[in-house]
Formats: sequence, structure tokens, C-alpha cells
Amino acid sequence: MADRTLMSDEFARKFASEKDTPYERWVRDQGLDIISAQYVPNLKHVELKPWARRGGSGVFINHEASRSSNDCYVCEIPKGGKLAPQRQLFEEMIFVLDGRGSTTVWNDAGQKITFEWKAGAMFAVPLNTWHQHFNGSGQTPARYVGVTFCPQLMNLFDDEDFVFNTARDFKNRFSGEPDYFSNKGEQDGFLLRTNFVPDAVNLPLVNAKERGAGGGHIRFNMARGAMASHISQFPVGTYKKAHRHGPGAHVIVLSGEGYSLMWPDGEEPKRYEWEAGTLIVPPNSWFHQHFNSGATPARYLAFKHSSIRNSQGVPISWISRRLGGNQIDYADETKEVRDLFHQRLASRGVEPKMESVYALELETLPPPAV
Ligand SMILES: [Fe+2]
Repeated sequence: MADRTLMSDEFARKFASEKDTPYERWVRDQGLDIISAQYVPNLKHVELKPWARRGGSGVFINHEASRSSNDCYVCEIPKGGKLAPQRQLFEEMIFVLDGRGSTTVWNDAGQKITFEWKAGAMFAVPLNTWHQHFNGSGQTPARYVGVTFCPQLMNLFDDEDFVFNTARDFKNRFSGEPDYFSNKGEQDGFLLRTNFVPDAVNLPLVNAKERGAGGGHIRFNMARGAMASHISQFPVGTYKKAHRHGPGAHVIVLSGEGYSLMWPDGEEPKRYEWEAGTLIVPPNSWFHQHFNSGATPARYLAFKHSSIRNSQGVPISWISRRLGGNQIDYADETKEVRDLFHQRLASRGVEPKMESVYALELETLPPPAV
């Protein structure tokens, strides 16, 4: 799809001196490839290069607003190996793609704990703690994907030493609690406050009818941080309502198979196929819609930057367009969207389960916007 926002060279030159950012210079200096993508078919197979700074190998994945919001990288710890210790003034959330291992976290006060993880685990690095990741296998590499707030900090201070080498314990985030990374949590509405999820692929969810099709949902607050994340699941034969929001949502498919449609307002949707390990990063304000076309429930994990909310705290992307929000009701989607889904299910021999969902929506559907 051509980028319709591209301007003439003469016009663009007037902004050329503002194009580069401290974050972008820092990323280039890491010596890794940078995938500029809204879609990576499978994070488990994406190619990595040696990363001298961390001691493993990696690749950066930057979306179109990474220079100002959040970024993503994939890192591999060699078999029987470990990464270099690191501390950082930005938040980071991690999902383990492959392998098993452990992480040791400590602070300047000398409080230190170690926890183990394997593929499917997710956790957050407490702010500015020292942390070191170890591969627990001598036979296979361990691979994870991390989403971070590095761009904001690097742009704010433009000082790598400050961002990665400031002696400061944020005791409200971590103070050596022995059970900090145990599998415990406190559920409040959709929100689960926890620091470690051992198996995100099979974590029990909360019913979320507001997103359509009776899907399960859970939201996380991890390591007492600001970075948002959630898991959504949708049943066989169903799909979710389309919506849009700001940049920086990194959607990682945990299970199932299907496809997503993404499109800027007024343009034709483009299709992106997915399976466990696919990454989708909807561009700023593009509508996106996820379809389960497989024979099992489908689930994804999303690491997000932030959400625009109404005065009650409800994300605008959860509110009907008929009410001024950014979610498209099933009743307002195009015939092509429904036809494509039914064709796909027919080709897979899967029975669609959407008729009752459409009917249920009509019971509470607001009148069309004027
Ligand atoms: Fe979204």
C-alpha cells in the first residue's frame, strides 16, 4: 500500500534537520538490523545479529512512531550462555518465545532475587534494577521479545551513560521482596496486578463481551510500572470488532491461526496472516480487526504505549463510533469483511459462530451517528 502522506522532496527538506532523534542514533550505534515493520510473520524465526553490548544476538523492530513512543527488540541468549548485566531508566516488558532460563534482579541496596522462566512466560523488569538473563539449557538458545520505553528516555536525556548507569533504587517498584516474581496476582476488574505470568498461553481470562464475540480478556499492571499490556482470546468461528488507537501496540500471537485486516480510514483493508509467534503493530490511527479462522481458540498478547480514555477512564478504542468512539460495531462493518471471513472459514471447514453475536449486538446497539 503506497504511503499517501509522502510529500515532495522540496517540502520534506524543510524538516530534514528535525528528522533524526537521539534514540535513532543510539539504535543505529548498536550495530543490529532494524526491521521497520508493522508485521513480522514469526518472531521465533526472525534473523538476529551478534549484539556486543548485551552479549547475545538481537534485532530491533521499530514502528513508524518508535522514535517517540516505544520500541521492540528480539534477543537470543546462546545455549549455555548469559547476557551482560544491565540496568536502565526505562520500563521493559518481556515475553519468552523459546527455550528456558532464569533472570537475576538486584538493586544497589544488595537485595537480590532469581526466578526461572520458560517459553510462554511474561514479566517486567522493575525500573532501574540490575538484571541479568541466563539460558537454562546447554542444548538450545533461549529467545525473548522485549517492548520498552527506551525511545522516550533516550530522547529526553540524549545520554546513554545516564540512561544505563544511574545509581538509584526505586524502592516503590522493587525492594527485594522474596516472592516478587512468584506466580501470584491481585485481580481488580479486568486488571491483574502481578510481576510474573509463567504461562501466558494458558492463563485464565475474564469474559469481555464489550469487544464482541464473547472473547476473554485480561489486562496487566506489572512491576508497578506504567506500560500497559493485555491478553485477548476469541472463540472458534468468531472475530473481534475493528477499532483504532494511537501507535505502539505490539500484538504478539500466542496461539491459534487467523488473519488481521488493517487500514487507514477511507482505504481498502489489507490482510496479514498470523500464527503463534506473529507480531502485528497497527500503525497510528489505522483500523485493525482480528479474525480467528482456525480450529482452536486464538489468543494474543499486546504490549501498549498508552490509551486515550473518556472521563470515566474507558479507552476510546472500546467505545462505538456511533457514540464518538473508535470501535466499529459489527452492524457497521462492510459486506466484504463478513464475506471474506465466511469464505475463509468455508475453505477450512470451520463453522461460523457470528450470527448470534450479530443478533446480540443489535439488542444494545446505539442509534447511528448523525
Ligand atoms: Fe488495537
